[in-house]
Amino acid sequence: MKIGIFDSGVGGLLIMRAIVKKLPQYDYHYLGDTKHMPYGNRTQAEIYELTKQAVDYLFKQGCHLIILACNSASSQAVRRIQRDYLPKHYPSRRVLGVIIPTVEAALGNQPRRIGVLATQATVASGTYPKEFKKLAPRLKVYQQAAPLLAPLVEYNELTVAKPIIAHYLAPLLKQRIDTVVLGCTHYSRVSHSIKKLMKGVRIIDQTAIIPAKLQNYLLRHPEIESKLSRRRRRYFHITENSSALASLADQWFGKHIKLQKISY
Ligand code: DGL
Repeated sequence: MKIGIFDSGVGGLLIMRAIVKKLPQYDYHYLGDTKHMPYGNRTQAEIYELTKQAVDYLFKQGCHLIILACNSASSQAVRRIQRDYLPKHYPSRRVLGVIIPTVEAALGNQPRRIGVLATQATVASGTYPKEFKKLAPRLKVYQQAAPLLAPLVEYNELTVAKPIIAHYLAPLLKQRIDTVVLGCTHYSRVSHSIKKLMKGVRIIDQTAIIPAKLQNYLLRHPEIESKLSRRRRRYFHITENSSALASLADQWFGKHIKLQKISY
């Protein structure tokens, strides 16, 4: 059975690329819900419903384990899916989010003042501050929503993105943060611009965290790992055609990959 990777769009491909590099032996199925992107500007009810449909689709495609690479889905839907949906429909399969592994990794260098740059939905959920406070009660956490950034990355409008990134980072810089979490998969694509603007600030990028966390999870859960097939197959499904996403998928995974538009 396969590992499913879900995101609203191109950000999930960045995470998948990093995971495949570390764990190339498995079969992977990427799903990008490009039709409903951006998730970050949606309500919790919408995000839950869309994520549940995506998870259902990936299970039906033969995934045993699904990574919700999308922070908006991880913050607004993963708990409910694990608690209500899985036990009833797929009790032996697993859905994992990205927020707790990111929080754990971010705390590694003992930050004192941490910034979280994320979508509106992720910020509104309060999940990052809540999870940080559980492990580090005295840590100062500052959140900044960046509603325009994921769509600009999705459409590959990176030049336009630069002044917008500066605009979103300004309030975090003012708080004199020592660490910033890129709390949306899409932001990894512009991490170099963020680094330039945040000199001396540690950047927490999920593409550098999630692969090792997944590897560690699989080591701790042989009952899941043993179900995974190892034929190095990769499947890419999207819900709406996107030329920007198609060209990045070509670039990152090779011209031979087939990006298939599907509906469910
Ligand atoms: N990539 C998604 C995330 O990590 C958000 C992008 C969107 O708004 O759809 O939150």
